[in-house]
Amino acid sequence: MAAIVKEPWEIEIMRDAGRIVADGLEMLEGMVRPGVSTAELDGAFEKFVVSRGAYPTFKGYRGYVASICASVNEEVVHGIPSFDRKLAEGDILSVDAGATYKGYVGDSAVTFPVGKIGERAARLLDVTRGGLEAAILAMGPGVRLSRICRTIQQYAESRGYSVVKKYVGHGIGREMHEDPQVPNYVIDNYEFILKPGIVLALEPMVNEGTDDVRVLKDQWTVVTKDGGWSAHFEHTVAVTPTGRDVLTRRRNEKNG
Ligand code: MF3
Ligand code: CO
Repeated sequence: MAAIVKEPWEIEIMRDAGRIVADGLEMLEGMVRPGVSTAELDGAFEKFVVSRGAYPTFKGYRGYVASICASVNEEVVHGIPSFDRKLAEGDILSVDAGATYKGYVGDSAVTFPVGKIGERAARLLDVTRGGLEAAILAMGPGVRLSRICRTIQQYAESRGYSVVKKYVGHGIGREMHEDPQVPNYVIDNYEFILKPGIVLALEPMVNEGTDDVRVLKDQWTVVTKDGGWSAHFEHTVAVTPTGRDVLTRRRNEKNG
C-alpha cells in the first residue's frame, strides 16, 4: 500500500493531475446536451487527457474499457459509455473521471443537468453537491475522519435523501484507491485522524429513494433498486497545515 501521507512535492504533482481532470470535466460540461451519446463524451475526455500528457486512469482498471463512467438518471455509478446511449432533455448525467499524471492520480465526478431539468432533479443535484461541499469544509488537520462521514450523511438524510452504502470514497495518490476508505455514512469504531499530507477522494452518492443498489448484467452499471434517481459529486482534496485544498476544482464551478 502506498504511503498515506504525501510530501508537499507530491501534492504539487497531484494538483497538476487534478487540474487535468477538472479541465476535462469542464470541457465535457460544454458538450452535454440532448442527442449527445455518452461514448462521444468518453472519446473527448480521453483525447483531452492524453493531449495534456496524462493517462485516463479508469481505462484498463480492473478490466474497465472506457475513460469515464457515465451514469444516467437511476444509474448511480460505473455506467459504461455507449454510442447507443443518447442523452435526452431533462436527464441527469453523472460523469466520473480520472487522470494519472507523472505517476499520481486525480479523481472527480459531477452530475450535469441535460438541458432543462425538473425541480426534483435539480434539488437532488443541489443536495449532493451541498453534502460534498459541507464535507470539504469540515476537513482539516486533527479532524476525525468519522466527522467527514457524518457530515455527508446528515446533510443528505436531514433533507430526505439516502446515501449509498455499498460504494465509498477513498485515499488517493499513486493509486486511485488507497487507504483510508471514506464511507458517506457513520460506521462504528472507525477512528482515523486527518493530518497534513493526507489526500482523500470524497464522493457522496445520494439517492432520492432507497439507498439499495444492484449491478446490471454488464457487470459494471450500478442502479438504484427502486428506480429513483441518483447523483454523484466527487473531489480530490488534500489536508494542509491550516485546512484543506481542493485539487480538482473546476474554474467555472458553482459550490455550496
Ligand atoms: N472513480 C471511481 C472511484 O471514485 C472508480 C471508477 S471505477 C473504473 O472510485 F473502473 F471505472 F475505473
Ligand atoms: Co473516487
